[in-house]
Amino acid sequence: MRPALRAVRVDITTLAVDAIVNAANASLLGGGGVDGAIHRAAGPQLLAECRALGGCPTGQARITAGYRLPARYVIHTVGPVWRGGGHGEAALLADCYRNSLALADAAGCASVAFPSISTGVYGYPLALAAPVAVASVAGSSGRAVREVLFCCFSAADLQCYEALLAGAE
Ligand code: AR6
Repeated sequence: MRPALRAVRVDITTLAVDAIVNAANASLLGGGGVDGAIHRAAGPQLLAECRALGGCPTGQARITAGYRLPARYVIHTVGPVWRGGGHGEAALLADCYRNSLALADAAGCASVAFPSISTGVYGYPLALAAPVAVASVAGSSGRAVREVLFCCFSAADLQCYEALLAGAE
């Protein structure tokens, strides 16, 4: 079944969904941006579990518990660094969404929230990343996931996602 897609403007660490997705780096050992916010809110046990995972390649995903977060799980995915668009960035970004959803589905998650992966520190232009994100999620089919939230940090990001979702209906 195709999940329902929604865009919301909210701090992803506050969401009581089954899984939130983290825009991590290949070490999985934390960082700035949404990664830093998630680790701060989840507490030190999250870092301990991440340490045992031994990293994650770009485009892939790993799942952990959510610890002190309201979300049950955190799915850590590593987006591509933007290098102008000619280095397979779009395919890798689509992989992040698809592989994260597959893990959520395998864990029986009904609701999943994504940040806008790669569009902060990694420099992927939001206007180019959002259509990749929406197409990748809309094209996925799983058994468990019923609702996917695109969690936007700014009003401009929300506007972009809402326009895309209105066009995809
Ligand atoms: N809730 C929702 N979205 C957020 C939050 C939040 N609390 N905080 C930031 N964002 P970024 P990347 C948005 O930089 O580009 C880290 O250091 C932000 O506005 O977090 O994939 C990692 O360790 C932007 O739209 O992730 C990596 O080294 C989006 O989240 C690197 O940054 C993603 O921005 C990954 O860079």
